[in-house]
Amino acid sequence: MTDTLPGARKFLAQFWQKKPSFTRGALRQFADALDRARIFELACRDDVESRLVTGTRTSWEVERGPFRRRDLGRLPPRNWTLLVNGLETVLPRARALQQSFSFIPYARHDDVMASYAAPGGSVGPHFDSYDVFLVQGAGQRRWQIGAQRDLGLIADAPLKILRRFRPQREWIVDTGDVLYLPPRYAHHGVAIDECITWSVGFRAPGQREMADRFLTFLSDQERADSSYRDPGLKPQRHSAAIGKDMLRQIKTMLESIRWTDADIERCVGEYLTEPRAGVVFQRARHISAHAFNRRLHVHGVRLALPTRLLTSGDKVFINSETILAPPLTRLVLGQLADDRCLPAGLRIDASTRTVLYEWYRAGYIEAGD
Ligand code: SIN
Ligand code: CO
Repeated sequence: MTDTLPGARKFLAQFWQKKPSFTRGALRQFADALDRARIFELACRDDVESRLVTGTRTSWEVERGPFRRRDLGRLPPRNWTLLVNGLETVLPRARALQQSFSFIPYARHDDVMASYAAPGGSVGPHFDSYDVFLVQGAGQRRWQIGAQRDLGLIADAPLKILRRFRPQREWIVDTGDVLYLPPRYAHHGVAIDECITWSVGFRAPGQREMADRFLTFLSDQERADSSYRDPGLKPQRHSAAIGKDMLRQIKTMLESIRWTDADIERCVGEYLTEPRAGVVFQRARHISAHAFNRRLHVHGVRLALPTRLLTSGDKVFINSETILAPPLTRLVLGQLADDRCLPAGLRIDASTRTVLYEWYRAGYIEAGD
């Protein structure tokens, strides 16, 4: 459990998924992690998802990146916000910010977004469908929030804007202040001066998404590959009618699909470790297993920024791949999964070193802790 946010246990019991919380100055150490120039640079990359939101009140425009540097330089002095998503996959400090919330399981972590806003810049009053920590970087922002039930949106707007927003609480936030909002809580943040705001977002698998995913998983496992058969077919009087026998056979076909808890575990593990869309792992320059082992011993290893690594019992899931690990390997990989690194000098058995070497070659891990 992290010691960055004091009182994680109390926070989870009183606020998480229940009500907003506001903490002054809880995460000041990320103030210098981003500035205007760096956000502009990120918004010009084609491997970073970015949006530019311009507008106020009822008139809004959204443009999607990647942008050209000179277009960003020509933006007006007020009323726009540039947003960049998935920063934990490209920026070590963004991954570190996400790690500040390691008291919440990684299986719930989604992405880290940052926004750079000119004075008056906002994305409008809205709600998000996920839990979020809004961490103020540089500059000041006014946040207003409200526990309203009416979540009706302005029709035809290019982004989700609440038709009626009834704020109940308000703060002027400064560097390091942290506002937590549970899913579907109405909020509106307006930049007072040029400001940077981090959004650390969480994911919660939906039933529809999981059902889709699980059926695909079963079919990929060839657990649902029988087909209708009708060797005794007779000539048809009503050729358009779906026969009773066909319905009966398909019902039996569906009812005979079987799965186990281990299937669910594997499907969930592979789903939750699926790399963020667009991520490409940089394969390391080839080195021998012997040279890798030496590096492992001298420098330790760390997960590549985009790598997702989770564990469940004897299974280890990395970037949507499953491995069944013997106890010793599980122990070491469990430490790597929790800390995202292994220190130098750790005694590691041969079969675990083989797994780590493969991951190194795939670009899933890097040397150094
Ligand atoms: C922002 O950073 O401007 C918007 C963040 C949010 O409201 O989710
Ligand atoms: Co929001």
